[in-house]
Amino acid sequence: MAITRSRPVPAYTGQAYQITDHTFDVVVVGAGGAGLRATVGCSQAGLKTACISKVFPTRSHTVAAQGGVAASLGNMGKDTWQWHMYDTVKGSDWLGDQDAIEYLVRNAPAAVYELEHWGVPFSRTEDGKIYQRPFGGMTTEFGNGPAAQRTCAAADRTGHAMLHTLYGQALRYNTEFFIEYFAIDLIMDEDGKCRGVIALKLDDGTLHRFRSQMTILATGGYGRSYFSATSAHTCTGDGGGMVLRAGLPLQDMEFVQFHPTGIYGSGCLITEGARGEGGYLTNSEGERFMERYAPSAKDLASRDVVSRSMTMEIRAGRGVGKNKDHIYLHLDHLDPKILHERLPGISESAKIFAGVDVTREPIPVIPTVHYNMGGIPTNFHGEVLTKVDGNPDAVVPGLMAIGEAACVSVHGANRLGSNSLIDLVVFGRAAGLRCAEIVTPGEKQAELPANSADLSLTRLERYRNASGGTPTAVLRDKMQRTMQDNCAVYRTGETLEEGHKQIHEVWAGIQDIGTTDRSLIWNSDLIETLEFENLITQAVVTMDSALQRPESRGAHAREDYPDRDDKDWMKHTLAWIDDSKRTVTLDDRPVHTYTMSNDIEYIKPKARVY
Ligand code: FUM
Repeated sequence: MAITRSRPVPAYTGQAYQITDHTFDVVVVGAGGAGLRATVGCSQAGLKTACISKVFPTRSHTVAAQGGVAASLGNMGKDTWQWHMYDTVKGSDWLGDQDAIEYLVRNAPAAVYELEHWGVPFSRTEDGKIYQRPFGGMTTEFGNGPAAQRTCAAADRTGHAMLHTLYGQALRYNTEFFIEYFAIDLIMDEDGKCRGVIALKLDDGTLHRFRSQMTILATGGYGRSYFSATSAHTCTGDGGGMVLRAGLPLQDMEFVQFHPTGIYGSGCLITEGARGEGGYLTNSEGERFMERYAPSAKDLASRDVVSRSMTMEIRAGRGVGKNKDHIYLHLDHLDPKILHERLPGISESAKIFAGVDVTREPIPVIPTVHYNMGGIPTNFHGEVLTKVDGNPDAVVPGLMAIGEAACVSVHGANRLGSNSLIDLVVFGRAAGLRCAEIVTPGEKQAELPANSADLSLTRLERYRNASGGTPTAVLRDKMQRTMQDNCAVYRTGETLEEGHKQIHEVWAGIQDIGTTDRSLIWNSDLIETLEFENLITQAVVTMDSALQRPESRGAHAREDYPDRDDKDWMKHTLAWIDDSKRTVTLDDRPVHTYTMSNDIEYIKPKARVY
């Protein structure tokens, strides 16, 4: 069964570039939590492994994760993986694949203990166990009991602690790191097999061709397609862009998570752990309004629910501040000792970015783009899937995806806080285990196709010499504002139609793009343009996927279709592009309504109330 490209790669006809060739068993692209965990696993399996990253590994965006990593350790009260599974399925609004969710929650405790043994400095309980805090949507007794304390925390710097520990572990093995290398495009052969990747070394402008038996994309999300996001400026979804250009689909792109508490103005994250430690939200009347919207979970309802409630308060004229356009988060009633011990990072961020002393004043916050539930479709081994000849689960040989770049799908339509860090390590490990099974160390690899570098070189040469009248920054700004205004917390057919028109105009605007730096050494103009192309293609499929889904589910809240429609829309969206014609093709694949084992039954859909 051949997995063909949507269009042939045009032959490269520009200036000749020298390319340095490398051969590895496995090439991991990205050195965040998922990429590093997979790197460790592949190296442990005796596979010759390369890890390519456009930033120094410990600057990957995992470093910014704050509140914690979910696992049913039961250190702060009874907990079970079955309760964690129920909460995750409900959080996903029944769009998550239940076999993958079972894999995630069952493997979560072992993954956290592995991190502990590797040296993550978790906060501790009085009796020396890993400290766990409550997080939104995490409950006990299948939603019938009190909030679960399931989120394992290293103060409010959990991602920082994990990333540094994982990088330390990765250095124990023979992994070769290619740091500050920007991956341009995948090498796909005639049969649709991925054969590696082409990358540009940023500090000297040399080109590198990595041939591998397996390429693992761990490139993170595309949060920077929006104007205000908690994501780093490096979160440009480079893996998703490469996959779309390779003629493969992305899945569930309409589901974009808004974190309730980004600092008003800067978008900087204030962890949900702040509400886990007892923080609460108020409107301009000083009312704790979450009691009305989610009488049981209140401020610890899931993120989509809290973000929508905040938006409704602002729309009803009960926002705070001069323009009544944001909400207050109170921590000023908490013991300063607790703030110092458990929330030191956000106390500092609030001071720097909002000028607020959290022991005395509330923090001005607003729902801010935080996470992409959608991404590269995979199974729970991390193998990339596509739909071909009616088979919705066809494996793309030679290609895996993990972390936020991937859509396994364990988060479905809405991810629960702290399920991201656990996703990174559980599926990073799963990818390593799968590689150990299916990749043979040192196996001789076939010659690469003659056109292996053509797509990368064509794009590199084109943007390096682009002489149009529109600077990349202008197009990027238009894209970010269109996404922010038209594909927001609430959507309607009208806003999405307008967004569809505008975002396709921005995409077409790439024909007139202009760059000014013609060099190859630290050419940020060029790299930002390549990143922009990754962002705009994902922005386009996000908008088009949102427009075609006439229901409300998780983070996709359609005011014109306020109800969930399980009969017709409990299915994943698939989106392909043809970038020569600038068109999008949409299709779907079924949600996995079965579990991984007989230890738990399929959790049937019901109304989602908190
Ligand atoms: O609020 C937070 O600390 C974010 C956690 C997450 O997105 O999982």
